[in-house]
Amino acid sequence: MKPVAEACERNRDPILGVLTRVFAHRHRVLEIGSGTGQHAVYFGAALAHLVWQTSDLPQAHAGIRAWLGDAGLPNVLEPVTLDVLADAWDVGVCDAFFSANVVHIASWDAVRAMFRGIARHRADDCVVALYGPYNYGGRFTSQSNAQFDAWLRHRDPASGIRDFEAVDELARAIGLELLEDNAMPANNRLLVWGSTAVRAVRPVL
Ligand SMILES: C[S@@+](CC[C@H](N)C(=O)[O-])C[C@H]1O[C@@H](n2cnc3c(N)ncnc32)[C@H](O)[C@@H]1O
Repeated sequence: MKPVAEACERNRDPILGVLTRVFAHRHRVLEIGSGTGQHAVYFGAALAHLVWQTSDLPQAHAGIRAWLGDAGLPNVLEPVTLDVLADAWDVGVCDAFFSANVVHIASWDAVRAMFRGIARHRADDCVVALYGPYNYGGRFTSQSNAQFDAWLRHRDPASGIRDFEAVDELARAIGLELLEDNAMPANNRLLVWGSTAVRAVRPVL
């Protein structure tokens, strides 16, 4: 049976509205933490001009394969095992990266590793889109996000809603600049960075 995350049903159209624009000229997208696989088949079907590479930890693969099997989309690829903390990712070069609801689940070390991995695998010209809740100026954007953060940290002290500014610093350290910060339903954001002329990885990572 295919796993279902109800949030994916609610957020997929607002996310797609942005991806349609920012991925219009992309060729190969790596999705980090594909989860159920619902996003991959929905976005892959709508953005048929690009190859959508799914990935996640091994325990998520059966669910992703189930969604991919039913959808039968030639441009959405079977999941590769990708732990962002691994020193090597088996994904080749990508000119776009998408990840939803991973940055607040993974540890901060893992978020830093995610950007190091993106730096290793990014084309010079690339776009990175991250969906999820973020804090600004050290503040929650809503009471519900504050409650969600408390729930996350109770469940796993290494997780939690991240500061936008800290994530933006990681992006800038690998030569990306913020292009868009889109408001999404349920107090989430869809942050979009793009490549700049600066390609060196600075020590912040
Ligand atoms: C809350 S789920 C989000 C799934 C999906 N992207 C969505 O929006 O529904 C978090 C995902 O992050 C993945 N994840 C957690 N730690 C990870 C790591 N170190 N490397 C790669 N993926 C990780 C989990 O396996 C899970 O699929």
